[in-house]
Amino acid sequence: MPDGSQIDFDGLIPNNVDLANDLRVRKALETWHPGYIDWWKQMGPEGFQENLVYLRTAVGVGSEGWARFGFVKMPEYRWGVLLAPQVEGRTIPFGAHKGEPAWQEVPGEYRAMLRRLLVIQGDTEPASVEQQRHLGATAPSLYDMRNLFQVNVEEGRHLWAMVYLLQKYFGRDGREEAEELLRRRSGDQDSPRMLGAFNERTPDWLSFFMFTFFTDRDGKMQLAALAQSGFDPLSRTCRFMLTEEAHHMFVGETGVQRVIQRTIDAMTAAGIDDPYDIPRVRALGVIDLPTLQKKANLHYSLTLDLFGNEISTNAANAFNAGIKGRYREDRLTDDHQLLSAQYPVLRLRDGAIIREDVPALSSLNMRLRDDFVDDTAAGIARWNRVLERTKFPFRVTLPHVAFNRRIGEFAAIHADPAGNILTPEQWAARRDEFLPTTEDNLFIASLMKPSLEKGAYAGWIAPPRIGIDNMPGDFEYVRIED
Ligand SMILES: [Fe+2]
Ligand SMILES: [Fe+2]
Repeated sequence: MPDGSQIDFDGLIPNNVDLANDLRVRKALETWHPGYIDWWKQMGPEGFQENLVYLRTAVGVGSEGWARFGFVKMPEYRWGVLLAPQVEGRTIPFGAHKGEPAWQEVPGEYRAMLRRLLVIQGDTEPASVEQQRHLGATAPSLYDMRNLFQVNVEEGRHLWAMVYLLQKYFGRDGREEAEELLRRRSGDQDSPRMLGAFNERTPDWLSFFMFTFFTDRDGKMQLAALAQSGFDPLSRTCRFMLTEEAHHMFVGETGVQRVIQRTIDAMTAAGIDDPYDIPRVRALGVIDLPTLQKKANLHYSLTLDLFGNEISTNAANAFNAGIKGRYREDRLTDDHQLLSAQYPVLRLRDGAIIREDVPALSSLNMRLRDDFVDDTAAGIARWNRVLERTKFPFRVTLPHVAFNRRIGEFAAIHADPAGNILTPEQWAARRDEFLPTTEDNLFIASLMKPSLEKGAYAGWIAPPRIGIDNMPGDFEYVRIED
């Protein structure tokens, strides 16, 4: 068995899992490949499929120099199967099997659970590509267009990553699931994607940046929890995916940061002191900060729903089984079994929001969500640093976790962003203060005009401070002419 440090680029499918000598799985993947390409052409980025795009492709799995940049047409991108190197002597880090050798094959008793986790994770990857497929046409710059397409091809690769595990370890069931992953469609009435946030539209670039900031960060948390798995191939797969995921959150974080920057620059130039003077700010052709806050409220609350119910036996079972750990389990210093531990969770009790200690095992979803909230807050603080350097008193804030929820206990109530419970009438009267209105969305949509000249940026977003791969400001990240 190779140690996985070498990537084989010779065959149809780049890989470091020795597909050349794994005839059964190679055949399954090669059989799946045409359907994937059909899906990509049909549901991947609309337009620009024949343009050369400056993309990074993974060429190694080490911490240094794992990616190479070059111009490639998206349908010819080298999607492949890449796992982080196997760690010699790795043991199961948590749960009932803690300390036993990590599994190299699927443990029979956990087969159904593992398959379900792989399918749920796998389903999100093509879903986001589908959600973002119309955005190329309104790209605010070639730089941003390239970043969108980079995220898209890598989500495609993440689908490959899950499909490999399904086909390698789950036989016929796995092959059927792999086909289903190409069949479901984001937002489809009859066969939607599995999770709510992945059936929402991503209609404009601010939504895209918010999605990559908030929702890709959910992806990071889930992958980080699965990277701890006692099922070693899953752990290795997720560890490599996390390397790619960092860029997606970079795109979101810096995207919103550049929107904020551009708005305050325009307000300053126009002598506008009041960030809430929305008509005057909008007249400058930039996105007013209160609307940006509403977009953040929406994407944050949709993403919180992805963490599931406050109390979950599935999460407890997956942890006990050694299949899905906690965020950075390997850095935690408790017993990694949690049989008698407690964890504080916000719950709804007699119509009030209270904090309650519950068994740590059954509240693992909330623990992961709390880690997500902390990680998100750090990103928001970096947005606010842009604002702190100005005279404007505005700061972006994270709403309360009870705000605008559809999953979990708070789905039963309405709350304002501060966490005050509202009656349905109060909610109806105030909803437009908290969440984007049709008018807000139409205004944002009105700004979405493509800006495809080399080095040019749409008027509602500031240029990035540095280029991708240190390229100069006027670099042609997507070759548009000829
Ligand atoms: Fe992904
Ligand atoms: Fe991602």
